[in-house]
Amino acid sequence: MKYIFPEKFWWGSATSGPQSEGTVKGDGKSKNIWDYWFEIAPERFFDGVGPQNTSTFYQNYKKDIQLLKQTGHNSFRTSIQWSRLIPEGIGEVNDKAVVFYNNVIDELIKNNIEIVINLYHFDMPLCMQQKGGWENKKVVEAYAEYAKKCFELFGDRVKYWTTFNEPIVPVEGGYLYDFHYPNVIDGKRGAQVAYHTALASAKAIQCYKEMGQNGQIGIILNLTPSYPRSEQNAEDVKAAHIADLCFNKSFLEPAIKGEYPQDLIEFLKQNNALPQYEQEDIEIIKNNTVDFLGVNYYRPRRIKAKESDVIYKDIFMPDNYFDEYDMPGRKENPYRGWEIYEKGIYDICTILRTEYNNIPFFISENGMGVENEQKYINEEGYIEDDYRIEFIKDHLKWLHKGIEEGANCKGYHLWTFIDCWSWTNAYKNRYGLVALDLETQKRTIKKSGKWFKELSENNGFEY
Ligand code: NOJ
Repeated sequence: MKYIFPEKFWWGSATSGPQSEGTVKGDGKSKNIWDYWFEIAPERFFDGVGPQNTSTFYQNYKKDIQLLKQTGHNSFRTSIQWSRLIPEGIGEVNDKAVVFYNNVIDELIKNNIEIVINLYHFDMPLCMQQKGGWENKKVVEAYAEYAKKCFELFGDRVKYWTTFNEPIVPVEGGYLYDFHYPNVIDGKRGAQVAYHTALASAKAIQCYKEMGQNGQIGIILNLTPSYPRSEQNAEDVKAAHIADLCFNKSFLEPAIKGEYPQDLIEFLKQNNALPQYEQEDIEIIKNNTVDFLGVNYYRPRRIKAKESDVIYKDIFMPDNYFDEYDMPGRKENPYRGWEIYEKGIYDICTILRTEYNNIPFFISENGMGVENEQKYINEEGYIEDDYRIEFIKDHLKWLHKGIEEGANCKGYHLWTFIDCWSWTNAYKNRYGLVALDLETQKRTIKKSGKWFKELSENNGFEY
């Protein structure tokens, strides 16, 4: 069967500044929370590899953009690093950063690759974190100023902007489950961080609209559909609903509808975890919703009613209301420990079509991280990652069905084009269409990269 996608469909991939640029002496970038956390706790990072050793896009962007072409990209997302552009968080702009981002943008345009620029990818400047990070409303104001500066500098050429990537993840990592700095475990503080992030996004959107730049602005959310262990068990269904409120709707609803769901508000109130807010800010969120959505989809969230006796007493933790459910026989990516559930991408299409006014969206990330890929190198010297090709096809089949039923999906971006540094997992799992040799920085296109080019040229595939 042939799966052909709509005209002008985006085929491409995503990366982020902190995971690809690297640090070069004298580049003027200041530290962000990742640079700092690595300094004080290198043992938390796989093989002790920190953020300065990313895939050297700063020096090699031209070469990498050629690789984008060779792997069939007609579109590409990366992010601007706040700590590179405005090293003090507010105020003076780093000229070297402006030159670098201008060069990247111009080179992409020269190569006919549509650019999506994201403004924040987990990378709080250290100086802003020292002021309290997203818990401090002044940081929200500083972010809005930074966003405005980006639009002024690059908005003449960049026509697709996103305010945040996966904004729930710094809440989960930094304020609930200890996998991002500042390693706080406290749901009430997490709720404040989430609310201020949503507000920061709305403020950036407000600013963008006021500038009248003739482009579009959205947000990128990692949607993890919540499936109850059993649809027949009311307690499971309720638990799955709470997880959905906390991890999906907490950003989806304010971003698209400009309002928080009433049951999320009630839930936070009952737990004495409602964030502090001002009425005028609620209006800003209401009036500044997104033009489009980026959807990162990796896995579902399976939930059952609370069974374990791990209950947090002195702090609010959403996990007091549900347990994760390891579905027997689930298909899994063993390197990441995540379930692979291709139909989830179709369920997201349906949810967005039926509950969110069929908002335009694109799949902004999907992909498979695999350890020790070297063992799949063939005689010609490149990695034969058939599993990745299968993974992509299996998801695209479901995406295609969603689109046929009317979902407003404009493209598919893989995570990611070249093996990159993945936070505390560093280079453990490789995701790229292109392999990166960490020692030599040599780049070699994998079998999936060659296949991706055909996919893009044919605007689909046969299966
Ligand atoms: C989501 C994030 O946006 C990205 O930074 C991360 O590396 C990938 N998923 C892979 O886990």
